[in-house]
Amino acid sequence: MTSVSSRPLVAIYPGSFDPLTNGHLDLISRGASLFDRLLIAILRNTQKAPLFPVDERIQMIREASSHLENVEADSFEGLLVDYAARRGASVFLRGIRAVSDYEAELQMALLNRRMGGVETIFLMAGEEFSFLSSRMIKEIVTLGGDVSNFVPAPVAARLRKRFPGQR
Ligand code: PNS
Repeated sequence: MTSVSSRPLVAIYPGSFDPLTNGHLDLISRGASLFDRLLIAILRNTQKAPLFPVDERIQMIREASSHLENVEADSFEGLLVDYAARRGASVFLRGIRAVSDYEAELQMALLNRRMGGVETIFLMAGEEFSFLSSRMIKEIVTLGGDVSNFVPAPVAARLRKRFPGQR
């Protein structure tokens, strides 16, 4: 995507990424080709009990996206629009898997545009990943299933350590 001004087009792909899936990574690599810089921003959410701490999630994203030069992984607290202003980002990137994602995404995009003037660009999830979600990955591994086909290698390795009983 060519920036209309001469300023570099910086986009933020925000989320929990707990853990990163192959669907997220597909969106990251497609997003990286659209923007000058793509910041993957993990929400530091004190209310959720995460599978992996934020710093480990950042590390996994860095390892899985190390071949993409314009991608950076970071974390943020508070409002996403405030983080975007601090980082000089003008666009959010989000993925849509199915119609069921649409309503919540629409609400978030409209709020973010109203509060911070930041547009959200949606990419349709790759069809081979549209059934994937971090929530399902967590459920499968905690029940002893193998998720190595669904997550990038650095994530699969950590999950194997964490859940050694995986089939
Ligand atoms: O991966 P997720 O859980 O769908 O990501 C949700 C996320 C982190 C993008 C969203 O909860 C968020 O941006 N939270 C930050 C707080 C905020 O700005 N809220 C108002 C707009 S929704």
